[in-house]
Amino acid sequence: MSKTIAIFGAGTGLGSSVARRFGREGYNVALVGRRAAPLDALAVELIDMGISARAFPADLSNIDALAGLVAAITGHFGSIDILEYAPISRLRFHAAKDLTAVDLQDYATLYLLAPVELVQAVLPQMLERGDGAILIGHGYSAIEGVPFMSGVGPIMAAARNYIYSLHGELAPLGIYAGTLTVTAMIERSEGHTAATIGEFAIELPEGSSLPVVDPDDLAEQYWQLFINRDRAEAIHPAA
Ligand SMILES: NC(=O)c1ccc[n+]([C@@H]2O[C@H](COP(=O)([O-])OP(=O)(O)OC[C@H]3O[C@@H](n4cnc5c(N)ncnc54)[C@H](OP(=O)(O)O)[C@@H]3O)[C@@H](O)[C@H]2O)c1
Repeated sequence: MSKTIAIFGAGTGLGSSVARRFGREGYNVALVGRRAAPLDALAVELIDMGISARAFPADLSNIDALAGLVAAITGHFGSIDILEYAPISRLRFHAAKDLTAVDLQDYATLYLLAPVELVQAVLPQMLERGDGAILIGHGYSAIEGVPFMSGVGPIMAAARNYIYSLHGELAPLGIYAGTLTVTAMIERSEGHTAATIGEFAIELPEGSSLPVVDPDDLAEQYWQLFINRDRAEAIHPAA
């Protein structure tokens, strides 16, 4: 039976590139996001490339529905062999001095509680098979607190910490867990498009600009993490 990657947060940036990279290796691709139309369009593009793909529209903030979502994907493809998690809606940062508990609660649901719950849903089958992988995407603020770029950072830092523990615990059981930390704007993502047309801006020291990375290169980083299984994290571009 062929293997399946479930991409939780499959947009025009990293998600699409991961779908093509792992699809090219023979993986079925399950695409998750809230909007059905772009997911269906991506599924059609993948199918045209000879990749087995299907959209599973869902809101990942709905924690109680995540076990059902995993069951729907598993019911269709037979298994989830790789869980990839990197949703993002609009890039938005907060000054730490203005951050409230309410702001953090939303980030905690999407970037910490949901991936933990999804791991719980896929892990029993992976443990049974003694095979599988959990790949989670983060931004640079998961590593270092940057002035005026708080909000999602403290929560992603917690999720990154969780992945490091998971990495050590699951490796002897045949399952890989790791994180890709992205230190640049992602080409073709909605966030990059918003920045390009001036809808979104980050305060930067004078004379500097944000680096940009091709999501195909990021998907390759994920693939290398997955096949080599020699470290818990790739930071790309290298910080
Ligand atoms: N974009 C950047 O420039 C950038 C920079 C640094 C780090 N990163 C990190 O890199 C990773 C990938 O970013 P990307 O922009 O390239 O992502 P992407 O694959 O282009 O898009 C992610 C998708 O997540 C979906 N999503 C958002 N909230 C969701 C929810 N509640 N439930 C289900 N799906 C949801 C969105 O679709 P719907 O709106 O239809 O749900 C979106 O299309 C993320 O971990 C991000 O934090 C991105």
